[in-house]
Amino acid sequence: MQQEEKSFFNIIKFKVPVYLAVATVIWFTARKFGFPIWWRIEFVAFATVGLLFFIVLDLPSMKPEKGTLNWVLRLLGTYAFASLLFITITRQLPQFDPQVEVDKLNKPPVKLSGLAGPEVIAAGRRVFEENKCFNCHKVFWEGNSDRGPNLGTKQIGLYPDDYIKEQVLEPRKQQAPGFDDEKSKKAMPTYYGEDLSEDELSALVAYMRTMRDPTHIPVEGKFGEQWTWWDDPQIIEQGKTVFEGVEPATEGLNCSVCHGKDGIPMMTGAFDFRNADGKDTTKVPGDHVEKPLKEWPDALWYKRVTRGVPETPMAPWGTIFPHLYLWKAEAYAKTFHDPLDKRAEKKPVPPVPTKEEVESWKKDGMFLDPLL
Ligand code: HEC
Ligand code: HEC
Repeated sequence: MQQEEKSFFNIIKFKVPVYLAVATVIWFTARKFGFPIWWRIEFVAFATVGLLFFIVLDLPSMKPEKGTLNWVLRLLGTYAFASLLFITITRQLPQFDPQVEVDKLNKPPVKLSGLAGPEVIAAGRRVFEENKCFNCHKVFWEGNSDRGPNLGTKQIGLYPDDYIKEQVLEPRKQQAPGFDDEKSKKAMPTYYGEDLSEDELSALVAYMRTMRDPTHIPVEGKFGEQWTWWDDPQIIEQGKTVFEGVEPATEGLNCSVCHGKDGIPMMTGAFDFRNADGKDTTKVPGDHVEKPLKEWPDALWYKRVTRGVPETPMAPWGTIFPHLYLWKAEAYAKTFHDPLDKRAEKKPVPPVPTKEEVESWKKDGMFLDPLL
């Protein structure tokens, strides 16, 4: 008995709306249970195959084949069409490459013996990448999110090895400034002490020690609510102890014996920090900035204090004392012409240095060697 053939519209009239409803339910249910997007697409793809199957079932039956050639062609055609469809769809899905995973597991752990400076730093960078530090920390322009401090603009490299190690191994012990909200307090993982070998940790610290900026004072705080050390009362307080020669970490350094405790120079010729229009020295051959003190770029402050002024008592302090403390002394020295409590506005946070800028510091000899 010949069944009545349905028109195509009749075939899909009910199936398509039912399919759309089912697909929507699948999509949102899968999302509710936290399936990643590719899984959800795959679930809906199954529903789509189901729809096609039911449509094909109802299609008008084909005419019986006339000969062998005819049915062989139909068979091959169907097979080719299905294969093509399958390959096209699966090629769009993320590919799993077992070799990549095996390589990751077999990668030899960092071993420092026999490695020299640049290789240790490169190994440390690998540790930083492999432990997903970039997921929460930017390093200047690089990285994926600002959940933790930008370790480049914060200049974590100014800090001693022990401080950096402690921050990695025991992140709850001391919060980064501006990150004392409940969420940030608990964000940094506490398992690095177990995951990292002794050598990996040393390499990591060597890499992090390169995170410095000779053209800007350090920046603190959460992205969007940041400030520079110029306006940080705590830093200025610490800078005062450096300037006045009572900071244990810079024993033997005392700016005030020449520049004066209250800014009145004690030594003839020593720079007077009270004069907002003070001029940059002309005694550094080929290097003079024609700007009054109040407009000095951070880079000039840093250069003069770390490298000194040749043939004057202003010595290259940066070859003897940690630069972490010299930046603090500079933040304090600035208050003689620009007292903190009279400031109308804060220094704007500088733009994050670009890749080109960071590379130029290394090439143009902006850093002292060796760095303290
Ligand atoms: C899941 C996010 C996350 C990951 C991953 C992460 N951190 Fe952190 N980290 C934070 C947050 C948030 C802070 C600020 C709060 C605090 O001090 O604990 C922080 C603080 C730090 C500090 C202290 C900065 C300061 O001001 O003294 C250092 C150093 C640091 N992280 C290094 C690392 C390194 C190295 C890795 C990888 C081995 C890493 N972090 C991985 C979120 C993260
Ligand atoms: C032994 C004395 C002495 C000490 C200590 C000293 N300075 Fe000086 N400083 C000088 C003299 C002298 C000059 C002027 C140099 C010149 O003739 O241009 C000077 C100049 C400067 C200048 C201006 C450079 C320029 O471009 O004109 C700065 C900034 C400065 N000192 C900061 C400091 C800081 C910060 C400290 C402490 C970390 C310090 N100095 C310690 C003697 C000293």
